[in-house]
Amino acid sequence: MKKSIYILILVFVGLMVVTGCEYDFIYHPTPPPIEEPDPDDPVDPNATSFSTMIVPIFTTGNRCTSCHGDGGTRPYLTAAKAYSEITSMGLVNTANPATSKLYTYVKAGTSTHAWKKFVDSQSELVLKWITEGAKNN
Ligand code: HEC
Repeated sequence: MKKSIYILILVFVGLMVVTGCEYDFIYHPTPPPIEEPDPDDPVDPNATSFSTMIVPIFTTGNRCTSCHGDGGTRPYLTAAKAYSEITSMGLVNTANPATSKLYTYVKAGTSTHAWKKFVDSQSELVLKWITEGAKNN
């Protein structure tokens, strides 16, 4: 008789443990899926920054600004003017990035721009920036 009470208690405790586990399961919903970086998000850490990645291509060592400085040959590619010049002169085409004049006209191997050109890594970065929406970021 005493033994069967112990067994009953044991079964009861066992049931509580099992249902307790179930509660744990119920109260821990599946975590939300990890979000992919949004290319349209201005704080996307992978985004190509115009001011810190594109402008230096133009200005470092006066590579482009020696001729395309303020008051020189347009587009003016100085930090202050580059963005408004590039957009107002229609040098980027976000609908079809690879046809953008800023890319096609200046990339390595073209004969269109008889002056300094981009090296491959620079034209690729410029194309990436245009593909991401040519933002003033
Ligand atoms: C030695 C002077 C010189 C340098 C350096 C130079 N350019 Fe030019 N660029 C010109 C001249 C002159 C023109 C206009 C005649 C022509 O299209 O070739 C021009 C035209 C352009 C155009 C076409 C503008 C339009 O009206 O459609 C773009 C874009 C351009 N340059 C970008 C650049 C970039 C980017 C760099 C740096 C990698 C650069 N240039 C370096 C002299 C230069």
